[in-house]
Amino acid sequence: MKNRLLWKLFSIIAVGTVIFFWLIDLVASHTEESMSYIDLGYRAELRAYAKDAEHILYEEGEEALSLWVKEIEEKEDTWIAISRPVINNLADTQLSDAYLSTFTLGRDLEWKIHLYFSENPTMDIPFDDGVTRFLIQLPQRMRPGKNLFIIDLLLQIALPFLILCLITFILYRYVMKPLKRLEKATRRFSEGDFNVRASESLTQRKDELTRLSSTFDNMADRISTLIIDQRQLLADLSHELRTPLTRLNIAVDCVEQDLDSQNALERLRYESSNMQGLIDDALTLAWFNTESPKLILEKVDITSLLQIIVDDAQYEFSQHTVVLKQPDQALFINSAHQALTAAVENIIRNGLFHTPKGKTLTVELKQESHHLLIEIKDQGCGVPEEYLEEIFKPFFRIKQGDQKNQTDERSVSSQKSGYGLGLALAKRQILALGGSIHAKNIEKETETGLMVFIELPYDVS
Ligand SMILES: Nc1ncnc2c1ncn2[C@@H]1O[C@H](COP(=O)(O)OP(=O)(O)OP(=O)(O)O)[C@@H](O)[C@H]1O
Ligand SMILES: [Mg+2]
Repeated sequence: MKNRLLWKLFSIIAVGTVIFFWLIDLVASHTEESMSYIDLGYRAELRAYAKDAEHILYEEGEEALSLWVKEIEEKEDTWIAISRPVINNLADTQLSDAYLSTFTLGRDLEWKIHLYFSENPTMDIPFDDGVTRFLIQLPQRMRPGKNLFIIDLLLQIALPFLILCLITFILYRYVMKPLKRLEKATRRFSEGDFNVRASESLTQRKDELTRLSSTFDNMADRISTLIIDQRQLLADLSHELRTPLTRLNIAVDCVEQDLDSQNALERLRYESSNMQGLIDDALTLAWFNTESPKLILEKVDITSLLQIIVDDAQYEFSQHTVVLKQPDQALFINSAHQALTAAVENIIRNGLFHTPKGKTLTVELKQESHHLLIEIKDQGCGVPEEYLEEIFKPFFRIKQGDQKNQTDERSVSSQKSGYGLGLALAKRQILALGGSIHAKNIEKETETGLMVFIELPYDVS
């Protein structure tokens, strides 16, 4: 889902806020409700006062009652009255019996007390006769809700504060936990741990933060491959340079000591041009690896390009036959002339190098529906199956003894062997052109050799 994190945060905040207000209201009204009744002990005390008053009135008379009332009023700092209300109905009207049965002058002890009134309410306790009423303004000490201010403070400030702290903490953890993991992964990566990845622990979430961590992982993949490739390239390059450098030093020594100087000078020229080629190829490879370059595209007539390459190869390897099979009419594709030529030339040279003299190398151009296919088929020894992918790696060469179906009359020209950069370069060049390359052995009883397939799009863009 797009913007998943947004929806998650929205639901946490929206649902959280609604629950938060509902909870505060519930707790506040419940607490207030439970605080609005006179304590049971006080109710019993008030009833006892009424009973005492009733007893004194009937046993000792009104004078004694008056003295007792004054004493209680003083003790409780309130007023008391014992009253017998007389109701005068005027204009021939009547109060209903139901009303009369519940009629009181003050508030019943069981009723709820309004906590926000400043005046204490008057409590009404009837005598046994049901007519005489003991009225007392509720003494201050018996007033319920004395802690109302503190409770209000807790409910309106402390509780919301705590709940909001909790929601903020949950949100913070929810967002920060993956960010912290990402930060940790970034730190470890910057310290050189190229294997560290961030998204493994976040696969459950599937939100924007997961996307962020998989972007980090992609970046980490790319950078670590780059760094590892560069290190490898540097290590291989310095290793490869060691032998020609040693030979160069020997040649310099010979020149210095005037020993076979002519030969030594030729060796110097040969080794330095070899090294030049090696360094040029290695730098081009490094450039392809690091820059992922966008090649300058142009209209390339692939048929005449192949014709020129094949003619050149035939000239160079005159004891082989190089055959080109392709459509008669010109075929233009949107590609990069130089990169394409270099890649195809490299493969043709490899093929001819491994094909015995007098045999044939065939280059065939096929037009497929979505791409062009160039097949380069030699009659050499082929490549052991396990190396068919390895040969496209930089500095990979098959040791003499490992070469498939190897025969002594193997190749042409010289003992000269390359540095193992040709196919690696060709692969990167073809990839940069939006194509692909792979190799396969020819598995026929009468025929051996290697077939290299290059697939090219008609238009790179
Ligand atoms: N047509 C082929 N037949 C048999 N083996 C091959 C063929 N092409 C390549 N190989 C093997 O693959 C290895 C890598 O080839 P690649 O072109 O990358 O390097 P190279 O030819 O040895 O040197 P470079 O091309 O840098 O001068 C070769 O050393 C060779 O062992
Ligand atoms: Mg080569």
